[in-house]
Amino acid sequence: MTKIKKAVIPVAGYGTGFLPATKAQPKELLPIVDKPIIQFTVEEAIASGIEEIVIITGRHKRPVEDHFDSNPELEENLMRKNKEDLLAKVQETTMTDLFFVRQPYPLGLADALRYAKPFIGDEPFALLLADNIFEGEEPVTKQLIDVYSEHEVSVIAALEETKDKVDQYGIIALQEDAPLGDGTLYPIDSLIEKPQQDQAPSNIAVAGRYILTPDIFDVIDRMTPNKQGKYDLTEAINTLNKTQRVFAKEIQADRFDVGNKLGFMEMAIHYGLSHPETDTELRSYIINLAEQLD
Ligand code: G1P
Repeated sequence: MTKIKKAVIPVAGYGTGFLPATKAQPKELLPIVDKPIIQFTVEEAIASGIEEIVIITGRHKRPVEDHFDSNPELEENLMRKNKEDLLAKVQETTMTDLFFVRQPYPLGLADALRYAKPFIGDEPFALLLADNIFEGEEPVTKQLIDVYSEHEVSVIAALEETKDKVDQYGIIALQEDAPLGDGTLYPIDSLIEKPQQDQAPSNIAVAGRYILTPDIFDVIDRMTPNKQGKYDLTEAINTLNKTQRVFAKEIQADRFDVGNKLGFMEMAIHYGLSHPETDTELRSYIINLAEQLD
């Protein structure tokens, strides 16, 4: 059985939800306290056993590459000032097994994936959307890789959302069949991207992590753009599901949707409460603030 060693992280979108902050910098570099969003995603992939990552960027995303490169002047400066802790933080972001490819036009997630094909070749792979940061005992990508290792099927991370949020996510219609394995793996009937509340087949949402077989590339090659001129990943997965079964794995983790303002702030608070430089004071601040708000 093929081991999952490669991951794709697309970051070519405009980040309009954070304008004007993202006018001149990629949203993936917005910091959660002191760590950029994209670094959480890369760390999750590595913690899940991924060995090589391709990041699909665009022309306005060059700073993402710089973030994972060395910065000799800065490193020398920190060394001279004996700031070993900061030096270590800077150096641990320098990744040799990261690859970058550009998507010329932001034509949707399935189009972005097209540019990963030469890198992925004929292997199953992980796809991670950086807008989702997870906190849990086991990395979410690892939870999906374990499913692949056991069943050799494409699998999508799923989480229940409240009804009022179904129009922000890909929503899953499950098949009636009994779940597989430990009872958290369900065959997918179909996916619908960001449905209106009254058209949602469930409130089980696609949570931005996928293991896909390389057959998805053939599906994408045969796709035509949708009404908005985009190549939609949800539609590609629906087509894949017609010829080979795709499963939804109910994942064990808390999700922070840092692609929207509130989720971003919640993640910053959550991370700040576990950060050694901010935990105590942030906790007191929140407690005091809560009293005033009451
Ligand atoms: C994408 C996917 C959607 C998924 C979501 C998770 O949407 O298209 O199916 O539920 O990520 O965050 P986006 O947030 O890029 O609009």
